[in-house]
Amino acid sequence: MEFKAIIDAKARNEAGCAVVGVYEEGDLGVAAVQIDKQLDGLLGKLHGNGDFSGKLGDVMLLPTPAGTVAARVLLIGLGSRAAFGRKQYRKALQSAVQALAKTGSSDAVVYLALEVVGGLDVQYRARIVAEVFCAQLYKIPDLKTSAKPRAPRLSSVSVAVADARGAKAAAEGLRIGAAVGSGLALSRDLANLPPNVCTPRYMAARAQGLAKEFPSIKTKILDEKGIKALKMGAFLAVTQGSDQPPRLIVCEYQGAKKGAAPVCLIGKGITFDSGGISLKDPPAMDEMKFDMSGGAAVLGAMRTVAELQLPVNLVVIVATCENMPSGGAVKPADIVTTMSGQTVEVLNTDAEGRLILCDAITYSRRFKPAAVVDVATLTGACIVALGNHFSGLMSNDEALADELESAGVRADDRAWRLPIGEEYVDQLKSNFADIANVGGREGGACTAASFLSKFAKDLHWAHLDVAGTAWLGGAQKGSTGRPVPLLVDFLINRVQAK
Ligand code: BES
Ligand code: MN
Ligand code: ZN
Repeated sequence: MEFKAIIDAKARNEAGCAVVGVYEEGDLGVAAVQIDKQLDGLLGKLHGNGDFSGKLGDVMLLPTPAGTVAARVLLIGLGSRAAFGRKQYRKALQSAVQALAKTGSSDAVVYLALEVVGGLDVQYRARIVAEVFCAQLYKIPDLKTSAKPRAPRLSSVSVAVADARGAKAAAEGLRIGAAVGSGLALSRDLANLPPNVCTPRYMAARAQGLAKEFPSIKTKILDEKGIKALKMGAFLAVTQGSDQPPRLIVCEYQGAKKGAAPVCLIGKGITFDSGGISLKDPPAMDEMKFDMSGGAAVLGAMRTVAELQLPVNLVVIVATCENMPSGGAVKPADIVTTMSGQTVEVLNTDAEGRLILCDAITYSRRFKPAAVVDVATLTGACIVALGNHFSGLMSNDEALADELESAGVRADDRAWRLPIGEEYVDQLKSNFADIANVGGREGGACTAASFLSKFAKDLHWAHLDVAGTAWLGGAQKGSTGRPVPLLVDFLINRVQAK
């Protein structure tokens, strides 16, 4: 998809489709006023006679007489003008893409970025256009043998702005939005693939592909031997029941001065979580192919950052393996020695995410990171607490937590702060090892994060539990790509804050 910023109002006369907004109150959006004139007041009439109410997300496609305006005009309901903000703007754009994809237009001019949207500047308004188009037009890499439905013809989207300054800002916004789109698509592709395709080795190959595509990324892959040499006893315990070999993926991107402390993103990459000997119930076990979503998200964020050539140093670490039962699998009551030296009693083999992450966090110390953020589909308890709307956010650093929280708000990929601390660590007491890997039903998301905090210690560390947000179940089953938008916004904001 090609995105452009344009000023010339005449452009719409040649466009395949002009996308304009109408508010519920009946007032037309910025460009609609102009188009209404060209169509002898048709738009106003449609609202007046009740045919188009302007309700948020409503759409109406109007064919136009030759030579008046664009070949088609697509009306988008913007809802109430008073309530029109970031979320409503996204919703309106989502409906626009869905409707546009069903038309025959190969190009469109979108006028919605001319509207006033909360406190968003034109760069951010344009960025959201590109993000929404990419996300809505994403196609799952399915293995269906039936004929593919025709791909949408749409190949070029222009965003109309008021003046030359706006055009420059919007062009930058579109560049960012498209890069978020491709990071999101990478993340969703990896998570949507079946677990017999998306194995630890496959994840590693895709990370190597990133290094091939972007010279600013260096990828290092450690195999079981390398992981053993690092003494990652907890990670090794999780993988030992599986026939698929594990991988530790390390991608380094240098966009800032050599030696400037990097941000470190760590992803949980369990390509299938059967629960191990503490086997899960069959219903929805298939969804445990998504248990590598954290790993996919940090690789997606890496892709976006490299595409944008952000002036930041970034290290991405993905610990990836399967969690399977077998004669050689780790058992409840086994005690393992982590890379940090602390011993862990594995009371439940289904609490495997924290076991691979604790070693990855210890490993991250060698980069002397400015901040470490791990991303994991870690606990069902987090879904119980927050549902599918917010990711859980836990941190030992107030400033870092604030940064991530506000990045989530800006990116519409929100996270909600949950507590960690000694009270929760107390639930993890073991009579036989330094710590147990489970702490009972109460506060399960908090005990899991508190377990990790015992390894993060003095690092500036935060944890995102994306168990409820990384994928959708039911009829819409599929990866959402969250929290790629949050992570990218967090990194862009760090660069700008400097
Ligand atoms: N990957 C799961 C968490 C999960 C479950 C994510 C359901 C999304 C949907 C994780 O490895 C797990 O199994 N956690 C256990 C921890 C428990 C044994 C303390 C859980 O949440 O049940
Ligand atoms: Mn598990
Ligand atoms: Zn898991």
